[in-house]
Amino acid sequence: MNVREGLVEIEVPEVFSKGPGKRSIAYYSRSMVISRDLTIFIIRNYLKEGGRALDLLGGSGVRGLRIEKECNMDVTINEKNREALKFIHRNKELNGSNARITECNAERCFPDGFYDYIDIDPYGTPVPFLDGAFKSIRNKGIIGITSTDVSNLAGTNPDKTFYLYHSIPERNYLKHEVGMRILIAYVSKRAAEYGFGIEPLLSYFGGYYYRIFLRVRRGKKWAVGSLSYVQEIFGRGYFRKIGPLWIGNLHSNAEYTIPSNLESEKEILNLLRISNDENLLFFYSTEELGRFSGGIMPRIDNLINRLREQGYRASRTQFSPVGLKTNCTLPCILKILKMKDL
Ligand SMILES: C[S@@+](CC[C@H](N)C(=O)[O-])C[C@H]1O[C@@H](n2cnc3c(N)ncnc32)[C@H](O)[C@@H]1O
Repeated sequence: MNVREGLVEIEVPEVFSKGPGKRSIAYYSRSMVISRDLTIFIIRNYLKEGGRALDLLGGSGVRGLRIEKECNMDVTINEKNREALKFIHRNKELNGSNARITECNAERCFPDGFYDYIDIDPYGTPVPFLDGAFKSIRNKGIIGITSTDVSNLAGTNPDKTFYLYHSIPERNYLKHEVGMRILIAYVSKRAAEYGFGIEPLLSYFGGYYYRIFLRVRRGKKWAVGSLSYVQEIFGRGYFRKIGPLWIGNLHSNAEYTIPSNLESEKEILNLLRISNDENLLFFYSTEELGRFSGGIMPRIDNLINRLREQGYRASRTQFSPVGLKTNCTLPCILKILKMKDL
């Protein structure tokens, strides 16, 4: 079956599993379009045309083919699964692509060369692929990383968070922001081992996965600089220490342009609209604010408007539908909650 996405058309296998009407597509996920659109957005905004990109875990090849067509880069697509590789070859032809296709088990070896952009999009944790990425990324290059290991990062089983990512998670409403920040902290520590510092350009929570885009810079100053943002801090839960986690920005504040024809343009704009305030560490849950204020529970958008009118930063957050990011202190929010007409 053929699917169109961005400027490419790809062929993907339909898989029939037991039971009537149970049909799915292998190596290609429609729900990940936004993750690929974000890749295009980041490359178009932060890298020069004509560099080299590596789609390390290719699947159907759609991401690599889109990078070649929509960002004008010289692309390598890697995959270890023979069946998926057949589709990558077919899709390369279908799109008249010049992509190089390699067949490495990326946990053990890496396609040779150096790259300006490396994409790591595994099922599960990205950890086994980080060493290869830091050996192959160029200075000032960008690494795009997916982790579907959300439950371990968000602390469903805190022992696992500790032995896999060396951090103590938060298990309340902040768990996904903390999970994302634990992932960035972990990658920052691994980057420093290879002499790199990192700067998060954009961080996205897709419900069942985290997606981060990091600019890397080689040099002691950068490595030590980003390690200074990896800290243990007090959580909100029981006022116990959590982390180490990344306490720096999740998103860059740089000016951007949105490439035309992105299917997820609206979602990306929503993310960018809140990104400046989302750089604030942690958020309030309006449910919790309601309990603190003796049951006064205003509509979250009204509260955001009121806080802005008073000169504070205030936005929703992607990490929770009842979350409020603001630089206003708790006593001050409680005072505002008591105001009339909220
Ligand atoms: C989530 S899919 C990739 C989806 C693709 N990047 C996209 O945007 O549609 C992960 C792919 O990585 C491949 N893979 C898993 N482990 C690998 C490894 N060690 N080396 C190379 N490929 C691997 C799997 O066969 C699978 O096709």
